[in-house]
Amino acid sequence: MLTLKKNTIEIGLEKPLKILHITDSHLPFYCENDSEAMIRQGKKRNEELSVQSLKDEMKYGEENCDIIVHTGDLIDYISKPCLEFAREFLKNEKLIFVAGNHEYAKYDGKTEDMIYRMNSLQEMSGGLGVNMFFNSRIVGGVNFVGIDDAYHQVEESQLIRLKKEVEKGYPVILFMHAPLYEKELYKKSYDFWNGEICVLGSDTVAHPEVVGDIAEPYASTKKFYEYVVNEPRIKAVLTGHLHFDFESELPSGAMQYVTNRGDKGNARVITVV
Ligand SMILES: [Fe+2]
Ligand SMILES: [Fe+2]
Repeated sequence: MLTLKKNTIEIGLEKPLKILHITDSHLPFYCENDSEAMIRQGKKRNEELSVQSLKDEMKYGEENCDIIVHTGDLIDYISKPCLEFAREFLKNEKLIFVAGNHEYAKYDGKTEDMIYRMNSLQEMSGGLGVNMFFNSRIVGGVNFVGIDDAYHQVEESQLIRLKKEVEKGYPVILFMHAPLYEKELYKKSYDFWNGEICVLGSDTVAHPEVVGDIAEPYASTKKFYEYVVNEPRIKAVLTGHLHFDFESELPSGAMQYVTNRGDKGNARVITVV
């Protein structure tokens, strides 16, 4: 069963554009050649529900929307059948995608950081057949820009490329896995995830009452954060990762939408007018 949140963004488009935002499908396929850790994890997940939910969401998007945006954690770990599925799934021409942390996950107990990502990418023979680090597409007069911030960090080259996309002059909708810091969101996320830091740019603007074990952002992450939250040509930011719904207004006036997990049938429909 689908649970759809609905929003409208007004940016003065000539013709309305309908977006389906899906995130966090956590597909848990495994086969006997996969690691014990991945098989154990796969058995804990509800494969049937994840698969059915994604089917229902995609059917809705195909029939009712102009574009489908998936903001990562499509798969739960990099098992052989998960990679095969993702490579096929991402060929859908209506779909744009950016990686989440689970696109690199192995459940091997190691610290998941930028080096972990590089190692996983090597094991995945390069990736999933799409550019997971940075991609963009213009649809209906809107420039959709996807940035891999799976570990709550953004690299300088991603910021440079984002600025080039913004300079093209189209209204921009940014889509990423981890959300941008915002005070109320941070508090909610901190409670929901038992003190883990799950938002991007946290310590640049954190308030003493919500500070925990702060993850130190790179200088490039701080620059990215300041640019995005203040840039008026970025009209909305679509994210996931937190496994709950949240909407907040950024200092620029743009809305950030965090969408709940797709493996339980959640998705968001945004009409841009
Ligand atoms: Fe997730
Ligand atoms: Fe995630």
